[in-house]
Amino acid sequence: MGVGKIKIPVYKPTITDLEKQYVMACLDEEWISSKGRFIPQFEKEFSDYIGIPHALSLSNGTTALHAALMALGIGSGDEVIVPTLTYVASANCVSYTGARPVFVDCEPGTWNISLKDVERVITNRTRAIMAVHLYGLPCDMHGLMEIAKKHDLLVVEDCAEAIGSKISDKHVGRFGDISSFSFYGNKTITTGEGGMVVTSNPTLAERVDHLKGQGLARFREYWHDIIGYNYRMTNLCAAIGCAQMQRLNQTLVRKRKIAELYRSELDGVLEFQAEVPEMVHSHWMVCGLLPNSAMRDPLREALLELGIETRPVFYPLHSMPMYSGGFRRMPISDDVSSRGINLPSYPELEDQQIIWICKSVREFIKTQVPH
Ligand SMILES: Cc1ncc(COP(=O)(O)O)c(C=O)c1O
Repeated sequence: MGVGKIKIPVYKPTITDLEKQYVMACLDEEWISSKGRFIPQFEKEFSDYIGIPHALSLSNGTTALHAALMALGIGSGDEVIVPTLTYVASANCVSYTGARPVFVDCEPGTWNISLKDVERVITNRTRAIMAVHLYGLPCDMHGLMEIAKKHDLLVVEDCAEAIGSKISDKHVGRFGDISSFSFYGNKTITTGEGGMVVTSNPTLAERVDHLKGQGLARFREYWHDIIGYNYRMTNLCAAIGCAQMQRLNQTLVRKRKIAELYRSELDGVLEFQAEVPEMVHSHWMVCGLLPNSAMRDPLREALLELGIETRPVFYPLHSMPMYSGGFRRMPISDDVSSRGINLPSYPELEDQQIIWICKSVREFIKTQVPH
């Protein structure tokens, strides 16, 4: 797709003097691997923020989700229900365990997992449902938990995109049995690469801790009693995380303002993810749907010519080669994916830049619609 110099990336992290100061402290103190003071500090600040007893740092959001599924004992012969409209890691983590991801469509409006579809695909092999809070909008966790209870299923929340998202006053990550977060460079808070598992269940927390640290036995050095993994976060990453946590509320306020500005400037031009009463959308990435799919890539091309980077909404996973064997049509996800565009959403983006992006979108659309 097009060339031109990117003036406005779709995302970039905010790194301040505090991040630099904390990272320098790791280097000065020579704690640069997965031991050091910033790791417990970051975990404690994270668990306090979410309001959950256990938070365990991991090397990224994918390893966090994988460890969460392993802690639940998900494995070969099991089925896990996963929305098709999500980032590929959600389903891959299920596959890593030997279980099978069973895809379901999303709901129109919210683009989150369809509860009707979930009920439809439950079999006697189903062990768990994965809720993904897409782009920061919480799923209907009350409805999902009711289904899980009725069918005796486990619930994993993939909160990679949803720090700061809440249902009423309760943070996402506190509804299911176990949940994971991502701190990749484009996330609302970043550690470079990083992830977190949260749970209120001490047994699950202990299992994740055991799995992420090479399966080291508790009371004997160099003795390993399970096949574990090196999924640990470094002190350097945790140091960045601690600095980011200090600005989290401010970041969330700015992201809401960015989303509101896009919504008002592009009202009636693009269709946005629904705002649901009681749900606090953290607006990780602002996405809009074009009137038709034929316009999407030409718009991206036109914006890129101006130096504005965008992304397509995720491609539905059931259409990817490794998951397309049991072909099913997922009309809502297919439609959202084909018409959807991610707009620049980083906190340092200025209002004037958003207004210019929106003007460029409107002008492009005008050229497409016959008068
Ligand atoms: C929904 C979802 N799940 C999982 C991940 C994986 O996180 P990471 O990139 O930190 O491995 C991402 C991230 O990018 C994501 O968006």
